[in-house]
Amino acid sequence: MNNLNISVFASGGGSNFKAILKAKRNGIIKSNIPLLITNNSHCGAVEIAKKNSVNVVHISRKIYPDLDEKEYSQVFLNVLEEFKIDLIVLAGYMKLLPEYVVERYENKIINIHPALLPSFCGKGMYGINVHRAVLEAGVKVTGITIHYVNKEYDKGKIIFQKCVEIKENDDEISLQKRVLKYEHKYYPLVIASLEKIISYEKSNN
Ligand code: GRF
Repeated sequence: MNNLNISVFASGGGSNFKAILKAKRNGIIKSNIPLLITNNSHCGAVEIAKKNSVNVVHISRKIYPDLDEKEYSQVFLNVLEEFKIDLIVLAGYMKLLPEYVVERYENKIINIHPALLPSFCGKGMYGINVHRAVLEAGVKVTGITIHYVNKEYDKGKIIFQKCVEIKENDDEISLQKRVLKYEHKYYPLVIASLEKIISYEKSNN
């Protein structure tokens, strides 16, 4: 047990979110995970949150079309403050975070990308598109990258990478499946080491 709170941000199926909650149950992750923020109230991650008694907050530009960037950031910051969030974990979150959230949580926001950055990233490079591009490029290995989030897509400092084998007869689905297994294994472990550092720094401040 530590006194940290993690918020997961997700837009999709939520298999990484599920793996993170499992790691929490198994004692690998010590922090509380009280909050899921999503831009898509119908996504699989929301169902997972409900099953696991995690609070869900739906924030989307569609709900707040008239707010400027600062005001829109404040919507996120109010919720994050209410839940005393120390670390933000993006797990298939399809939106760029508002800039004041990134500023306020500098080095406290991480993301996972299903390839070896800085390759196969940028606009349109998400989900199955990444694995298709990897196969089309004919590279012999792919992998996962866990990185800090800054104001540009996929450009923050890299924390961890692991190679994943590409097999001769892979298609994008089989490759995605293999890469996801690595994501589910290593994302919780990286979160577990970061929470130790954040917790240490917090108690020594
Ligand atoms: C994962 O491949 C992750 O690397 C990327 O988005 C996908 C999310 O999958 N950022 P899931 O919603 O966790 O199943």
